Amino acid sequence: MKVYIETMGCQMNQLDSELVVSRLRAAGHDIVEDRKQAEVVLYNTCSVRDHAEQKVYSRLGADGQRKASPGKSKLIVGVLGCMAQREGKALRKKYPQVDIVCSPGQLDLLCDLIDQAAEGKAAVAIDPKRNEPRDEVAEQRIDQLDLQREADLSSSSSQAYVRVMRGCDNFCSYCIVPFVRGPERSREPGQIVEEVKKLANAGKTTITLLGQTVNSYKWQNGESSVIFSDLLERVSAIEGLHRLRFVTSYPLNFGDDILQAMRDLPNVCEYMHVPAQSGSDAMLKAMNRKYTRAQYDDLIDRAKEIVPDIVIASDFIVGFPGETEQDHQTSAELIRRSEFKNSFIFKYSPRPGTSAAKNLSDDIPDEVKKLRNNELLDVQTEAGLAHHSKYVSRTCELLVEGPSPRAKKQPEMPDGGKIQMLGRTRGDHIVVFDGNESLAGQYVNVEITDATALTLFGTLT
Ligand code: 5AD
Ligand code: SF4
Repeated sequence: MKVYIETMGCQMNQLDSELVVSRLRAAGHDIVEDRKQAEVVLYNTCSVRDHAEQKVYSRLGADGQRKASPGKSKLIVGVLGCMAQREGKALRKKYPQVDIVCSPGQLDLLCDLIDQAAEGKAAVAIDPKRNEPRDEVAEQRIDQLDLQREADLSSSSSQAYVRVMRGCDNFCSYCIVPFVRGPERSREPGQIVEEVKKLANAGKTTITLLGQTVNSYKWQNGESSVIFSDLLERVSAIEGLHRLRFVTSYPLNFGDDILQAMRDLPNVCEYMHVPAQSGSDAMLKAMNRKYTRAQYDDLIDRAKEIVPDIVIASDFIVGFPGETEQDHQTSAELIRRSEFKNSFIFKYSPRPGTSAAKNLSDDIPDEVKKLRNNELLDVQTEAGLAHHSKYVSRTCELLVEGPSPRAKKQPEMPDGGKIQMLGRTRGDHIVVFDGNESLAGQYVNVEITDATALTLFGTLT
């Protein structure tokens, strides 16, 4: 069948979609870019903020209308991922146009679910809730989805994601992830190494290890255990691997062993994404982040001391219940102090079932959330400019991703066939330079000539 898939949310979802596409292709389905041509429309959804869910509901509304139009009644609509888990079967009651509901831990069943839906049957596969017994068989099955993936050889991209763990046990009070992605489970290290080897052999020279709290990775087997710094060492030794990164890190488990691995293993990139969420101890406590501001500052100081040229990115939530102007200013001060490369800043959005939604009133008015959001963005812009400016006149190695978005819009290629290309440094900086499309997927050296808060500009050397 012709299948269209739209992916929302984080890198974990992007990876899930890639694995699903690999499975669907192997089963003989065609992946189409145009939703109008599709016989099956799939949404791999995100529940982390209300905004992301509203987007899916509006897509489902449009699909309902399409299914009601002549000749389209056979269109199959599927909701995958976090929203499927959060809503469960109820989703089909609310939206009868939905044929397939498939949780993150059941994605390996998707081909069967499509077949069932094509026969007009309900096709629902939901993970157990956190308080229900785990389904060990399903857990082994889902790991095969990662292991059996086909490296996408048709793509010029030299980069791939590899999951090292699933789920999260941290229960930050605002966060839906522990409920929709289940308990924390680290994958067996041998499986991870096998998967990375396969990808590296297929030319994927940049690998990003993924986990909700990737640095908490721990594999226990009897007496022996493998922790994240051990895993970095094992994976980094794989032949052909030019760059190894990992996201997202939780500030508490970021020991010096990991920082030293970043310093000492040549292909491990000096980049860390460690969300602070707030600079204020009162807010960190209310958020059930299990560290203090002083511990976060200490991590940033250790990272800068141990890893030369470390590049740090963060996340912040503004307008969390009870956040005072002073708490907010403390977050601004944290951004200034840390000089993050970039920060993702979100307005607090209560998520059903989380402890913050149950116990705390969403008392910061939306106008104040917006103001604080803009204010932190301004502070981050200043910090980002200071950070990026330090790279001017330096020579950086880039992995070229492809034409820059601006060049894609203006393909007329002035200046003798040269086109603005976009690449990334080891520290995940975006660099725009004049090159040509054949460089996509390659590593090149560029001298940095200019910097803005989010982008570097350079010339090929
Ligand atoms: N409201 C706003 N932002 C949230 N995040 C997670 N849950 C919420 C929520 N309920 C943000 C955090 C996290 C990022 C992925 O999304 O900053 O790090
Ligand atoms: Fe959510 Fe906190 Fe787990 Fe991150 S660490 S996924 S914010 S519960």
